[in-house]
This record gives sequence, C-alpha cells and structure tokens, in this order.
Amino acid sequence: MAEPQALAPLSLVVLISGRGSNLKAILEAIDRGELPARVSAVISSNAGAPGLEHARRRHIDTLALDAADYPQREDYDRALQGLIDRFEPGLVVLAGFMRILTPGFVRHFSGRLINIHPSLLPEFRGLDTHRRAIAAGARLHGASVHFVTEELDGGPVIAQARVPVLPDDDARTLAARVLAREHQLYCQVIRWIAEGRVGYDGRQVLFDGQPLQTPLQPDARNEDAGI
Ligand code: GAR
Repeated sequence: MAEPQALAPLSLVVLISGRGSNLKAILEAIDRGELPARVSAVISSNAGAPGLEHARRRHIDTLALDAADYPQREDYDRALQGLIDRFEPGLVVLAGFMRILTPGFVRHFSGRLINIHPSLLPEFRGLDTHRRAIAAGARLHGASVHFVTEELDGGPVIAQARVPVLPDDDARTLAARVLAREHQLYCQVIRWIAEGRVGYDGRQVLFDGQPLQTPLQPDARNEDAGI
C-alpha cells in the first residue's frame, strides 16, 4: 500500500503595514513545525515597517510598495497584485495591512485572501475598535478572521476569539489582551486552510465540507474544531 503523502506546505504571501506581530506569530508557528505553511514573501505598504525585520531575519523576500508612488488606488492594487502573483501563493494573508482594497483586487484573490480584524465582527468595523468597544459599554470584545470580500470588514467570518472587557480596561490594555489572542487565532485558521479543512465557495465558509453556521471559536473547547 502507498505511504500517505505529506501535505506540501501552503505558500503564503503576508501583507503588513507596521509592527508585524501577527506576521511574527505566523513565522514562529512555522519555525516550531506547528503550521504546514511557508512564507514566500512579505509585502509592506510602508518601506519602514518594523515588521519587515521578522522576515529579513529569516531570509524571506521582502518588498515595499509605497502609496505615494501610485496616486490612483486602482494602480496601486494592480501593482500589488502583480507582485503577489509572482510568488503564486495559495493564500494571501492580510496582517495589519492598513489599506482599503479595490474590488478588482479582491475578486482576483477571492477564496485565498484572509484578514484579521480586532473586533467581534460585525461589531466595530473600521478603525479604533478597542476604544469604540469600551465607549459602547461592550462586555465582550475580541478578534475575527474572515475571507475578504468587496465589503470592508464584511466578508464571511471563519473564526473568532472572545475577550472580556474588564472594568478598568482602557484601549491600550484591551488591545494588548486581544492581540495575544489574535496571534493564536490567526495561526489556527491558517492551519485549517493549509489542511484543507476551511474553504470558501464564493458565498459561505465551509468547514470540513459543510457550510459554517457560526464562526469557529478555536480555544472555546469546540469538539468540532478538533481542539
Ligand atoms: C492587529 O491588531 C490587526 O488585527 C489590526 O492591526 C493590528 C496589526 O498588528 N488590523 C486591522 O485593524 C485591520 N482592519 P500587527 O502589525 O502587530 O500584526
């Protein structure tokens, strides 16, 4: 009988704009052998992004595409698409990439473009989510990973991490607790995609071939999630 074939690692292109702590968490999970993936390139919207260092240290290709060189958003996204396509990634990972993407770009990568957002979507789309959650009196906050569609922060949610808002939280303390959970959540979702357990059929998220009814909660002891 034939030996079972090991899965080829999923090729990732990661897009960042700044600190890159989610990128670092992904790279460290790969280093530890916990994520069957490899980062083929990291592309930043800002040449000075500190996060690029995590990739350089591992001799991973890094590229920067500065918005100032592309006054038209469509031109920027076309150039970005061309850069990404060179690496033929199986998955494009937005990890703190702080740009709104054009419909053409999103359609081109449909089903292989994911984002992490620091709120329990559909709550608090957009920026400044932690301050807004506290101001709204939210008791529960967190982070979501979703497939990207043309609707800003509106694509189908794959998984969420829930974080209680504590009485003495300010935006900074809450952001720090959410960020720690983001790192675990993003690695888990990428692992599911690499293993072929999570996909997108153009309408909904599939988990083990079945439409997902509610976002997965990987560290909520969900038996179906295999945790
Ligand atoms: C993360 O909190 C991520 O969820 C958020 O930016 C931060 C990037 O941190 N993304 C968004 O707000 C996208 N709308 P990092 O650079 O340390 O990974």
